[in-house]
Amino acid sequence: GAASKEGYRHFMLKEIYEQPQVIAATLEGRLSDRHVLVNSFGTEAEPLFGQVRQIHVIACGTSYHAGMVARYWLEKYAGVPTQVEVASEYRYREVVVPDGTLFVTLSQSGETADTLAALRFAKERGYVGSLAICNVPGSSLVRESDLTLMTQAGPEIGVASTKAFTTQLVALMLLTLSLGRVRGMDEADETRIVQSLRALPRLIGQVLALDGDIERLSTEFAEKHHALFLGRGAHFPIALEGALKLKEISYIHAEAYPAGELKHGPLALVDSEMPVISVAPNDELLDKLKSNLQEVRARGGELFVFADEQANLKESEGVRVLRLPHVDDALAPILYTLPLQLLSYHVAVLKGTDVDQPRNLAKSVTVE
Ligand code: G6P
Repeated sequence: GAASKEGYRHFMLKEIYEQPQVIAATLEGRLSDRHVLVNSFGTEAEPLFGQVRQIHVIACGTSYHAGMVARYWLEKYAGVPTQVEVASEYRYREVVVPDGTLFVTLSQSGETADTLAALRFAKERGYVGSLAICNVPGSSLVRESDLTLMTQAGPEIGVASTKAFTTQLVALMLLTLSLGRVRGMDEADETRIVQSLRALPRLIGQVLALDGDIERLSTEFAEKHHALFLGRGAHFPIALEGALKLKEISYIHAEAYPAGELKHGPLALVDSEMPVISVAPNDELLDKLKSNLQEVRARGGELFVFADEQANLKESEGVRVLRLPHVDDALAPILYTLPLQLLSYHVAVLKGTDVDQPRNLAKSVTVE
């Protein structure tokens, strides 16, 4: 029957809250004790993955941000050189395809015109094969790719993508571990990440329990016209995704920067009217991020930091800190997506916009 909000005020909120279940569903049957089952990508996957020397990832919108996160993972854990590009650029340029390159598309709908055109273009260019990570069974992208891995997000109705994104990230970690295995990834890392994946739905549930705190924070944004999101490493794409969510549904102008680029331009924009949102998991880049945050504070910027409960970051005048449960570094980008989704959602509700159907946007862009 017709999709129902099941008591939630908006589909977007329902879909944010479904993330523990749909992430568990995306992992279901794809893990053994200590490994990812490579045949989750199909019976042809194992021989094909053995030939892969590099990867091109192509997507649009939120799916593109998932690809950007995957680049950090694929290079760090699997040692596979990876390039990520938006489909609308890729399909119109002269692309050099080195031997042994795997072509990967990411798409919630499997019907995005530019992504589909990119796949068709890629077929003529000597890739070792194509893989689609997609949420809609039987979609064009799924039918036309050599390998597929379905995200199990279920129907996503809200135009602003939420659960499709986090399940794509889970699928991309499965890809990273599968390729890592073939390429001799450190087994201790592999086992640790597999165990952390199993614990992820429960951790996501703990982040959802912070919703009330995030809703209170959102009141500080409703009157603002601009916002700046900062992240480093694999959290730079998460900052991009946070900014995209805020733009899409609250119509507040938002930009994201890798925190180290702040001093090369955006710092000039920072004042008390420009809230700065930062994701600060407790990884090796935290100290660098802390000094970036001081640069913002010194210019009177109001800071909102989502930090690991183990990060030694204190609240002070102009610095609000919201603590997230500790998570394995490898999976932090998934967990830190949630507070940014909730923040945008609550800001949009305060502003009274049409959360599920933002102006000028479509769920699936099937024409160029
Ligand atoms: C549209 C949607 C976005 C989505 C993008 C790519 O712009 O509004 O939420 O991320 O298309 O869609 P896809 O279905 O290919 O992931």
